[in-house]
Amino acid sequence: MKNQPEILKNFIVLEGLDGSGTTTQLMLLEKMHIENKIKHWCTFEPSDSTIGKHIRDILRGRKEVEPVTLALLFAADRNEHLFNKKNGIISHLSRGEKVLCDRYLFSSLAYQSVECEFDYVLSLNKNFPLPEFLFFLDVSPEGCKKRISARAEKDIFDDPKIQEKIYEGYERSFLVYKDSDMKFYRIDGTLDFQEISRKIWSIIHPLPI
Ligand code: TYD
Repeated sequence: MKNQPEILKNFIVLEGLDGSGTTTQLMLLEKMHIENKIKHWCTFEPSDSTIGKHIRDILRGRKEVEPVTLALLFAADRNEHLFNKKNGIISHLSRGEKVLCDRYLFSSLAYQSVECEFDYVLSLNKNFPLPEFLFFLDVSPEGCKKRISARAEKDIFDDPKIQEKIYEGYERSFLVYKDSDMKFYRIDGTLDFQEISRKIWSIIHPLPI
């Protein structure tokens, strides 16, 4: 990809299939930041903006829109999440906080490309900045299936065949950025939760505090 996007220092993103444990890791990492008194902000996409809430209704199947509309909504939500002057990612970074985010544009490339052209989804997201660190919690679609089957609330992507395609979409999205300066780590998501969080912590905080 020519003209790689800007990298946002201290911006850390967790990605993975549904059931791969991104939300659990975010919680564990938040705890470690609190214990070590490191200024931080934990956030997620879809965000809790009005656009993000609208997206959640669609994901739960309460509302229906065309796949391209959903891709556009995710991009609009991301734009607000990044650039909102009061509470956006960039405003938090500029206050010296580390920003940890559960999902980002790689989710759009992986999930929305199931029903939209990959290059179209990329065109909607290619101008957004990249995180300094991207962690992919690697759990196979089969492994995730076992974990999410226990969940009460289902969403429109909870289907093993769709999850296979999303996994392929993730691989394709990582290739797009392989020559960028973003630090990409594939973590074995089947490891013990605590072990994963310790691994991530040792990468984002290599020096003893
Ligand atoms: P959510 O209920 O927030 O929980 P979790 O991330 O823990 O699964 O689900 C978010 C869903 O939204 C998830 O299935 C991935 C999907 N998604 C997209 O399809 N595109 C995107 O750009 C993002 C950020 C998420």
